[in-house]
Formats: sequence, C-alpha cells, structure tokens
Amino acid sequence: MQVSGQIDAAQSKPGFYQELCEKLQDLLGTETDIVANAANASALLFHSLPDVNWAGFYIFRNGKLIVGPFQGKPACVYIETGKGVCGTAAKKKETVLVSDVSKFKGHIACDPDSKSEIAVPLLNWGKLIGILDIDSATLNRFDEDDQEGLEAFASVFVASLITEDLPNLSDIAY
Ligand code: SME
Repeated sequence: MQVSGQIDAAQSKPGFYQELCEKLQDLLGTETDIVANAANASALLFHSLPDVNWAGFYIFRNGKLIVGPFQGKPACVYIETGKGVCGTAAKKKETVLVSDVSKFKGHIACDPDSKSEIAVPLLNWGKLIGILDIDSATLNRFDEDDQEGLEAFASVFVASLITEDLPNLSDIAY
C-alpha cells in the first residue's frame, strides 16, 4: 500500500484531514494490535503532513507515558503525567496545542529542532490509552483545524483497537 504523496496538501485542512482519516481506516483495516496500528498511523502522519519533524505515540502504562511507535529522531522514553506537553495532555485528557515550545513551561526537548507541537490524548470512553504527539520545526505550525483533524484521526485510531467482545486495552488504560 502506498502511503505517501497521495493526499493533496493544497486543499482545505478539513478536506485534507477527512481524506487522511479515511486513509487511516483503510490502512488499519481489521487489525486491532496497538503496536502495529500505531506504527502504520505514525508513518502515515509523518509522510502526509507537511512540515513535521516528529509524529508518533506515547502509550500510557503503569501510571506514566512510554514512547511507542513513531517517525522522527529518537525520543525520551518515559514522560510523567503532568510533565511536558505530552504529560500535560495526559493529565488534562485534553489536546494541548503549543505554538512556541520555548514559551511552554516544562517543555521536554527531544529534538532541538522542534518549535511547535500538538499533543492529542487517546481516549476510550474517557480512559487514557496514550498520546498522539506531533512536532514541527516551524513556529505556530498547528491551528484549530489541525487540532480538529488530529482529534478525528485519534478517534479512528482508538476505534481500531477495540475488539467486539471485550476491549483489549484493560491492561493499559485507566
Ligand atoms: N516535547 C514533548 C516530548 C516528546 S517529543 O516532542 C517527541 C513534551 O514536552 O512532552
């Protein structure tokens, strides 16, 4: 399956994200494994979104975030809930959009090139599964349209993990 170069980034952002979500759904198919799906979702994001230098997942496990599949430079392994952009999104269970990371108190700099960032919580019926995190080397890269689009992307991702009989996430979600 080809994942890059197929979504027209010149169209409106809502149209772009709708197409991206449809593509994610096709890509994940009926697979429910979190590692497999996070790996393909991060590759799809990294190769579809213009101007990003890191795209991937932190998984909530044993009370903190641990790095999961991603594309970009190596990243810090653990993030405590409440720390950094990701830990703040995890604690609040809300998206955190940072237009200038140098102005975000406690920002954790994994890639010194990163200038702006968005962290979207992965929630299943209000329970935290992890964080979708995207960085850009451009200031103010993400706006409300990106937030809306990436929250929809996160919902498609979370829905892919839920099996029909029982959620297969009971060991990691809280
Ligand atoms: N900047 C993040 C850390 C993760 S990296 O960006 C991949 C933070 O402050 O939580």
